Amino acid sequence: MLEQARWAARNAYAPASAFRVGAVIISTSGRMFTGANIENDSYGLSICAERVALFKAVSEGEREFSELAVVAETDTGEEDAPPCGACRQALQEFSPGLRITYRRDGEHVTRLLSELLPDPFGQDGKDV
Ligand code: THU
Repeated sequence: MLEQARWAARNAYAPASAFRVGAVIISTSGRMFTGANIENDSYGLSICAERVALFKAVSEGEREFSELAVVAETDTGEEDAPPCGACRQALQEFSPGLRITYRRDGEHVTRLLSELLPDPFGQDGKDV
């Protein structure tokens, strides 16, 4: 999956940060979706690789996910890439038990989303 995420990062559009991120998400039905970060001159419109992958998958009919892998690179090499808080919230809407692999302090680690976002916002009684 990390290799797929590295491949996805090649399509990052990151003129503002030069921080290219690639993500791969796997649905419980076994489909794989990739994403890359897409920036904009109006910086606030930029979107992270994880949400691109997630939204592609949801828009293709998937609602439940088992694994996500993320990588980031700059011109000097691979970088740490823990998913940002906004992506954690977006992901937990669908799969609080998601396993996420990313680089932290130079090591690849796998964590549960519920560890990374222990007390998420959520509406009671929602029918997903
Ligand atoms: N970025 C991601 O794609 N994923 C993250 O989890 C954190 C940050 C992107 C957003 C922006 O295009 C660039 O990395 C620098 O913040």
